[in-house]
Amino acid sequence: MIPDTKVVKTPKVAVIGCGNIGSRWDETARQDAVLTHAGAWHRLQALTALADMDPERLATAGRFWGVTALYADYRALLAEVRPDIVSIATPTGLRLPLVEAALASGARAILLEKPIALTLDEALAIKAVCGTEVVVAVNYLRRYDPTLQALAAQIHAGRLGTIQHVVGRYGKGIVENGSHWIDLIQWWFGAVQRVRVLRRLPDDRPDHDPTLDAVLEIGGAVPIYLLAVDHRHYSLFEMDIVGTKGRVTLTKRGSRLQHWEAEPDALFPGYRVLQLEGDLHADLGLGLLRAAKDLLAVWRGEQIKPSCTLEDGIAALRTVLALRETAQGEKSELS
Ligand SMILES: NC(=O)c1ccc[n+]([C@@H]2O[C@H](COP(=O)([O-])OP(=O)(O)OC[C@H]3O[C@@H](n4cnc5c(N)ncnc54)[C@H](O)[C@@H]3O)[C@@H](O)[C@H]2O)c1
Repeated sequence: MIPDTKVVKTPKVAVIGCGNIGSRWDETARQDAVLTHAGAWHRLQALTALADMDPERLATAGRFWGVTALYADYRALLAEVRPDIVSIATPTGLRLPLVEAALASGARAILLEKPIALTLDEALAIKAVCGTEVVVAVNYLRRYDPTLQALAAQIHAGRLGTIQHVVGRYGKGIVENGSHWIDLIQWWFGAVQRVRVLRRLPDDRPDHDPTLDAVLEIGGAVPIYLLAVDHRHYSLFEMDIVGTKGRVTLTKRGSRLQHWEAEPDALFPGYRVLQLEGDLHADLGLGLLRAAKDLLAVWRGEQIKPSCTLEDGIAALRTVLALRETAQGEKSELS
């Protein structure tokens, strides 16, 4: 009998930027979590090389992951290692030149941190250089979670009925953290069409990334109320979706999902009330591993596109920039 000789290809993967999300969080976090790019590719036995301009950070990450191909200059890494996949976890200001250099060295798949760029022009330039040949997966990590993917399917199938409104809370900047929230909204309800800013929170965020209270409108002028909290006290990332047939709340960083459905009230005749139907958990501790696996499946030709595409990243950026510009009095409509 001829043995099954189907070969599963393992790519060479380079991580550029070994800070918090590149490597550091996994150097100290719980053992079973995968919070970083290096951790995810290490778990998939594909981590080949690391780059960081900070020599101490680079050496620490290299020791932790047992990687010896270490580069202070990412261009040298790309020239010598020629990775198949490049994970980009540098600060947001450094994206386009890195993507260009990765593609020039032969990489055909990129795991890109969010927000994908500082400006829409840069984001569109990334899209232009990637064209249709290069696959980019963006790390809006909740997109890769099966529990939240099932919720997306239910919302799209109308299980909540017509959406009456959505209320949410977030902190630490509309671009940095608010973009995760906006990405969920656009994933589940489509493009935001109009934004209004109610107030800027007096926290410690810089002008280029203020934390804002805002009202967003999706199709049919459904209002979405986004409320800012001061991250210096604690982190909060929540969403409450109220439809005509039921309600979903996301709490605990968006990892606990409770689903209520409208049913006849057992006590007061003629009324309908909400009953808890489901209480589910999304494991954000596996978000990056899932993102890396998702991209790997596309790279191997097992999947057509990543669960969070470059276009999704551009859409999130477009809306958060519109919010920021509105706060600065420059804009009020999304075009
Ligand atoms: N998806 C998420 O939930 C999530 C969470 C945290 C951060 N992020 C994003 O990840 C990115 C990085 O954030 P962070 O908190 O890890 O930042 P960080 O400052 O901890 O790490 C960035 C690392 O990049 C290195 N670096 C900078 N310029 C470089 C260069 N030219 N070549 C090589 N290395 C370079 C720095 O030395 C540093 O170690 C940001 O865009 C941030 O928004 C996303």
